Amino acid sequence: MFNFADLEIPLVGAPMAGGPSTPQLAAAVSNAGGLGMLAAGYLNADQLSEQVQQTRELTERPFGVNLFCPADPNDNPVNAEALLQDYRQTLAPLGKEYGLDLLNDELVLPDHFYSLLDWLLANPVPVVTFTFGCPSAEDVERLQAVGTYVGVTVTNPQDATLAAQAGVDFLCVQGPDAGGHQSTFRVQDEVNQLPLSQLVPTVQAVTDLPLVAGGGIGGSKDVWSLLTLGVETVQIGTLLLLSNEAGTSQAHRDALQSGVTETCLTRAFTGRPARAIVNDFVAEFDALAPAVYPHVHYFTAPLRAKAKDAGAWQHVNAWAGTGFSQAQTRPPVEIISSLFKD
Ligand SMILES: Cc1cc2nc3c(=O)[nH]c(=O)nc-3n(C[C@H](O)[C@H](O)[C@H](O)COP(=O)(O)O)c2cc1C
Repeated sequence: MFNFADLEIPLVGAPMAGGPSTPQLAAAVSNAGGLGMLAAGYLNADQLSEQVQQTRELTERPFGVNLFCPADPNDNPVNAEALLQDYRQTLAPLGKEYGLDLLNDELVLPDHFYSLLDWLLANPVPVVTFTFGCPSAEDVERLQAVGTYVGVTVTNPQDATLAAQAGVDFLCVQGPDAGGHQSTFRVQDEVNQLPLSQLVPTVQAVTDLPLVAGGGIGGSKDVWSLLTLGVETVQIGTLLLLSNEAGTSQAHRDALQSGVTETCLTRAFTGRPARAIVNDFVAEFDALAPAVYPHVHYFTAPLRAKAKDAGAWQHVNAWAGTGFSQAQTRPPVEIISSLFKD
């Protein structure tokens, strides 16, 4: 069974769904002595199978796979349909600029969670983590029974307690400065505002499980201050986004290097809170977005895809943690070793 103590470097390369995570990036992080992660949140089982195979060809070291727990439909407000229709109307003029009819687009909500889980049970990988909720104790046990080390990403001590009760092996503690989505368990949850350095002790107070901590890391000082708190491993995502191994789109790279200095937590792109570069889309639509998930994610997806293809960074979801100005176009091994220099 995987153990964090076996890593040469106490570092996890965060799973980053939507393009940035690739087999090349996961393998580069693992080959550098950390734990590389694949992001299966938006993949189907065939795509995951291909990515796992490619990763295995690139590294003999342990790596992990991250899954998104499906949203409970009861999490969405009773007037979700009306809220969605309003938001479609708000976004329709921008959609039109990209040749899309957002008002009449049919919404398809794929759900691959159980087929991904079945695939991972049949084809075990060393580590599996869950985001946006906690799997059942039975599913945790089934993964452990095939030799997989299981983690859940939490943003507060209450959810840490729930995950510990489900029998997981470790927790990823995500602070509010993290790039991308916050792993809140319920769609309507407000984001915890406690800085990571204060959040970690509140989680340590409710569980003895090994912790991975991340969110907003910009340099070696951040890494050492977390390790001093007694966490097993730190996690970085944003710092890896500009490496060649990451599948980060050009529009996303442009946003990170645009000179914009601000990020914020916004539901504008997906309906769930996620930290992104403040571009035109965020500035215009943040206040108008409903907390309805995954519907907002899927109906803004064609718009974001068109904007990405057009290289329009002002309209893409450029996820970024608060340390994004420190991201560099360097190989992951160099990015990682620079964090562990004295
Ligand atoms: C582009 C991007 C995509 C992300 N996608 C995922 C994901 O698929 N699953 C997940 O658990 N976390 C995801 N996250 C959050 C990371 O797991 C992690 O919490 C975050 O990267 C740490 O903060 P940092 O980006 O400031 O280093 C994503 C983050 C970014 C920047």
